[in-house]
Amino acid sequence: MADLYELDALPAPPSLPGTVVVRPTTDELIDAVAADLVMQAHACVRTFGNFQLALSGGSTPVPLYRRLMYDPNYRGLPWGRTHLWVVDERRVPFDDERCNFKTINEIIGEHSDIPREQVHPIFAMLPDADAQYAQTLRDVLGWREKGQDRLDFVLLGMGSDAHTASLFPHSPALVDRASDSLVRVNAGPSVTPPDRVTMTLHLLNASRCLAVMVTGKGKRAMIERVAAAWSGRSGARVDDRLVHELPVLGLSPLAGELRWYLDFAACPGMPEPA
Ligand code: 6PG
Repeated sequence: MADLYELDALPAPPSLPGTVVVRPTTDELIDAVAADLVMQAHACVRTFGNFQLALSGGSTPVPLYRRLMYDPNYRGLPWGRTHLWVVDERRVPFDDERCNFKTINEIIGEHSDIPREQVHPIFAMLPDADAQYAQTLRDVLGWREKGQDRLDFVLLGMGSDAHTASLFPHSPALVDRASDSLVRVNAGPSVTPPDRVTMTLHLLNASRCLAVMVTGKGKRAMIERVAAAWSGRSGARVDDRLVHELPVLGLSPLAGELRWYLDFAACPGMPEPA
């Protein structure tokens, strides 16, 4: 007979800063992220009248974005009250396949009832793209009362070099970790295209909820390394040297929540899918 409590027999997930949510398959993981996202959206709309959502590019979240559009369980997300932001952008025109906004907009912008004026692309080709986006963020979030003027849910990924958003190891945007700049231009030597515009750790760490979604066996070794570097630190601020090496460890919400969402393939210690 199948062991109903089989999950209890699995090894404990790795210790990472914040809460770690692990699901056997990517599909089940998408359900976990989508359910939390929809719950947070309703709670924020009830409390503040709107929901400030920032989404990442890359390949990992694409099936989640699609699921939000076609799965009746998640169609109820209050898009009409949502402001949609982009965590980071590649410095390419909007019609370039590598443009994060293009992907997000084609899936969500065009298939939900989100009003155009609540969709906030990064105009990454402009020389002052960072200053402009920071200003838009201030203008929109500034309608909230002080203290609540922050992003409500930020979906992040992690590269196999531990970058998150477009905050690459040893890159200039990490230097001003302590400054109050919200958006920075930055570059990553290992990514195409290298030139990026990205939300800063300062802005990300002010958010209500940071959700880091990592899937696939290609990321397992890095999750293991991040967990090893984090081990024994709980509560302590990660020092700058380590953040430069493993930028994802710079995520440390001041008065918010950090949640990791891993499928078995990406999660050290879990059985690898055949
Ligand atoms: C981007 C991202 C970036 C991404 C990671 C993971 O524009 O590339 O926002 O931070 O989340 O690089 O990318 P994958 O999901 O493609 O592995």
